[in-house]
Amino acid sequence: MVHLGPKTPPSRKGLLNDIPKDLLDQIKHLEELFTVDTAQLKTITDHFVNELEKGLSKTGGSIPMIPAWVMTMPTGKEKGSYLALDMGGTNLRVCEVTLLGNRDFDITQCKYHMPPEMKTGSSEELWDYIADCLDSFLKQHHTVDDEVEAKKIHLGFTFSYPCSQTAINNGTLQRWTKGFDIDNVEGHDVQPMLAAALKKKSVPITVSALINDTTGTMVASNYTDPETQIGVIFGTGCNAAYFETVGNIPKLEGMVDLPPDTPMAINCEWGAFDNEHKILPRTSYDVQIDNDSPRPNQQAFEKMIAGLYLGEIFRLVMLDLHGEGHVFEDEDVSSLQEAYSIDAALLSLIEEDPFENLTELEDAFESRFGISTTEPERKLLRRLAELIGTRSARLSACGVAAICRKKDITKCHAGADGSVFNKYPHFQKRGAQALKEIFDWPDDLAVADYPIKVQPAEDGSGVGAALIAALTLKRISEGLPVGMKAEFV
Ligand code: GLC
Repeated sequence: MVHLGPKTPPSRKGLLNDIPKDLLDQIKHLEELFTVDTAQLKTITDHFVNELEKGLSKTGGSIPMIPAWVMTMPTGKEKGSYLALDMGGTNLRVCEVTLLGNRDFDITQCKYHMPPEMKTGSSEELWDYIADCLDSFLKQHHTVDDEVEAKKIHLGFTFSYPCSQTAINNGTLQRWTKGFDIDNVEGHDVQPMLAAALKKKSVPITVSALINDTTGTMVASNYTDPETQIGVIFGTGCNAAYFETVGNIPKLEGMVDLPPDTPMAINCEWGAFDNEHKILPRTSYDVQIDNDSPRPNQQAFEKMIAGLYLGEIFRLVMLDLHGEGHVFEDEDVSSLQEAYSIDAALLSLIEEDPFENLTELEDAFESRFGISTTEPERKLLRRLAELIGTRSARLSACGVAAICRKKDITKCHAGADGSVFNKYPHFQKRGAQALKEIFDWPDDLAVADYPIKVQPAEDGSGVGAALIAALTLKRISEGLPVGMKAEFV
């Protein structure tokens, strides 16, 4: 039996015994590449805090730190019905949310499949499709009796890409992220584009708020759990929002008529952390993903941790191991050649395989790729999935820790949503462990007592968007600003 050296952590399920030396060496090499130790977590967090500051400064930095014009948390007493539209990556979701005034709500929703070609199609196709979905939702679920009522349909539009906002109801797309690449949207305000499509199709909706999913998640989670101070998405992309005060946002100086202690939600767009590649331990696989992406040198952090990329990292490593003759000898690996053909769900399946000899993994490789695997190969693949998933969770924790450190938050909840957070096995536990290491919490502290907890969020792009629409309309009715001074809008 071959034993691992004392420094190599054992695999979560069963020891990596009975593995030929060559594969063990490969595992060791992968562990070196993908492991982020405590010291690195701390250094990355320190750098992250500085970058958050920089993003708020007049000169700016890589992290956009976008003022989102949400200037208050909900009281819980908000009432009324609002439409919410979520343009995620895979689906479009339309909801009608009724806020009941007691930290509770009712929701009716419909999901519309977004054809993958649309991600790289034309701008007109995109907005027309969205307008059609809204129209169909209204016809099915909402009776519009007359013109007056029609004008009262307010929409919170969750558009989760970096948009510069001069007010709550506009947003100029800085750049597409998450693999989108639609012409003629970057550099433009997306609100008038949607409004024009709605007008063209006579859909009687007013876009009252443009929202990032992280801001929506923070507000929605705070609505049901007032200890929530941060909203995070760990999904196809990765990002967070939190509250600053206007006086702490130098880049807004002179542009707003607001007292310095006014809260201001910040959509960090932290996926852009370390775009200058100074601190993150990138592997050659991360570099390749970046180079081959539609926007190289953007979203450095996101490309190492978000759901869109986890399967792709795994695929590139496998191809490399095969190319060097370590795995899948005599197997036809042509089915692994297509970029992005593996998604994070496969890694989840591998990590969750309950069988000691990893038969679920074996079946998945047979049926999906026509590749027969040996048991030692499967153990290596399992370890690889663990390493990629663990790196994602640990690096993500640096972002949460950085926000807390920047704001001197020692105790809070972060509301988290997204497919990776909700579905990837052990992601939450691994992230909590990383936070413990970063903050040096004592070993005997029970996880339930960790002072900073990242926990499942309330529905941000539905309930959050509706709440933000409600908060905005209230501010407008009270004559309070919802954006920059007129000359800057
Ligand atoms: C990407 C987007 C960001 C969004 C995140 C999660 O990072 O740029 O706006 O919040 O994905 O969906």
